[in-house]
Amino acid sequence: MRIVIGVALLLGLASEPVLAEGNIEKGQSKAASCVACHGVSGKAANPIYPNLAGQNDAYLELAMHAYKKGERSAGQAGVMQAFTSSLTDEDISDLAAYYASLTPLK
Ligand code: HEC
Repeated sequence: MRIVIGVALLLGLASEPVLAEGNIEKGQSKAASCVACHGVSGKAANPIYPNLAGQNDAYLELAMHAYKKGERSAGQAGVMQAFTSSLTDEDISDLAAYYASLTPLK
């Protein structure tokens, strides 16, 4: 049983994207298309969209990979699937670093 759990954990980890430290300035310039929904400063333009400012870097990165891979597909996720489909791993790291660097919202 222990071996089965160990193997499952290993496989799970192997399929996780490799998280990389992104570049905040590059992320900012790549965020032009995100502003319409997530706002200029990472505060959503409309309450039906999530605020991103100050969110954890690694979490943002994992979330974007999950949309891109179709692992997040319920509800409004289709919108983000479209926006992440053309992003590279580097774009995702940069965007995550940028949004994480913004002042957290109260
Ligand atoms: C047309 C509006 C729209 C645009 C443009 C858009 N998003 Fe989103 N975004 C959404 C919506 C809606 C959700 C919530 C989806 C869900 O229910 O999972 C979301 C969720 C997210 C999340 C997950 C937040 C969380 O708390 O889990 C991240 C990260 C994100 N967007 C980043 C981006 C980035 C980076 C861009 C630009 C490349 C972008 N979005 C462009 C509408 C948009």
